Amino acid sequence: MKNDEIKILAIESSCDETAASVVVNGRDVRSNVISSQVPIHTLYGGVVPEIASRKHIERINQVIDEALKEAAMGLDEMDAIAVTYGPGLVGALLVGVAEAKAIAFARNIPLVGVHHIEGHISANYISAPELEPPFICLVVSGGHTHLVKVTDYGKYEIIGRTVDDAAGEAFDKVARAIGLGYPGGPKVEAKAKEGDPSAIAFPRAKVSDRPYDFSFSGLKSAVLNYMNGCTMKGETYNEADIAASFQAAVVGTLCDHAVMAIEEFGVDKFALAGGVASNGAFREAIKDACDQRNVKFYCPPPILCTDNAAMIGAAGYYSFISGRRDGWELNAVPGLKLGER
Ligand code: KG4
Ligand code: ZN
Repeated sequence: MKNDEIKILAIESSCDETAASVVVNGRDVRSNVISSQVPIHTLYGGVVPEIASRKHIERINQVIDEALKEAAMGLDEMDAIAVTYGPGLVGALLVGVAEAKAIAFARNIPLVGVHHIEGHISANYISAPELEPPFICLVVSGGHTHLVKVTDYGKYEIIGRTVDDAAGEAFDKVARAIGLGYPGGPKVEAKAKEGDPSAIAFPRAKVSDRPYDFSFSGLKSAVLNYMNGCTMKGETYNEADIAASFQAAVVGTLCDHAVMAIEEFGVDKFALAGGVASNGAFREAIKDACDQRNVKFYCPPPILCTDNAAMIGAAGYYSFISGRRDGWELNAVPGLKLGER
């Protein structure tokens, strides 16, 4: 065993992916096992929390065993166990937290609680080994839309956040409305490729007095109103045009905020994170905006954008080396705020 290697077993179970990963020195991913529950939740059109918890319990041991096996390492070689303890579904989070505590206790390994959004941001450290703070990160997932200034490892200033729905949630709701099913994001993206993004002028909401905040619930309602309006007039609507126009409105809003932050804060590095960052149109729009302003653009590959444990291992590493240790009182915190302990 090399002494300069810090090996972390990371566990993620905040929503509908049961995941475990072994990460060395925060950026070197030795395994990244993800057991997705999507096929089960698809039957219900969205994540059913009780089912998610039960499936995590059924799968977590096997997922951890696989992660260790793939990394060709044993539990005794781990320097720390990192686990997502919030935000997320409380029952789902509890499974990972209880498992991590049990392993840490039984093997006498330090325990490190990780914030899920900090994990999403830290996925960029894996895909871009040269990336170091400070930078701005736009985190766009099913539960969160946060524009964050990363001032140092583990240090965050929130510039803006959604006041209602998250962008990914809007994708999921619109997908359901136009009959594409769950999970909505990738399906809307595929449908949008067949449509005209300028066919329907959906609103791009601004939050008065808080220019960096986001609001997506009005956009979702506008899509539903448009569809109802067509139905009432006996007209048909084009689903691909709706998908493309909706996506253009979300991407446009996200991009406007990103550009405003780049210009105001004068950063030279801008990163994306979260499930929606796997959307090709979104990545391209932000990349173009960065290129035009000589700002270096970062975005993890799709597999590190959606929920995974490797990102928890990356975030956990920086917390671990800064001295964070959690005790047996570590609990799931469904509404945990970024930067809070
Ligand atoms: O980060 P994530 O896996 O879970 C949360 O922490 O929420 O994000 C999941 C969200 C879902 O709302 C999903 O519809 C969205 O990310 N998403 C996408 C795409 N892939 C996933 N949204 C738009 N386009 C995509 N290609
Ligand atoms: Zn997530």
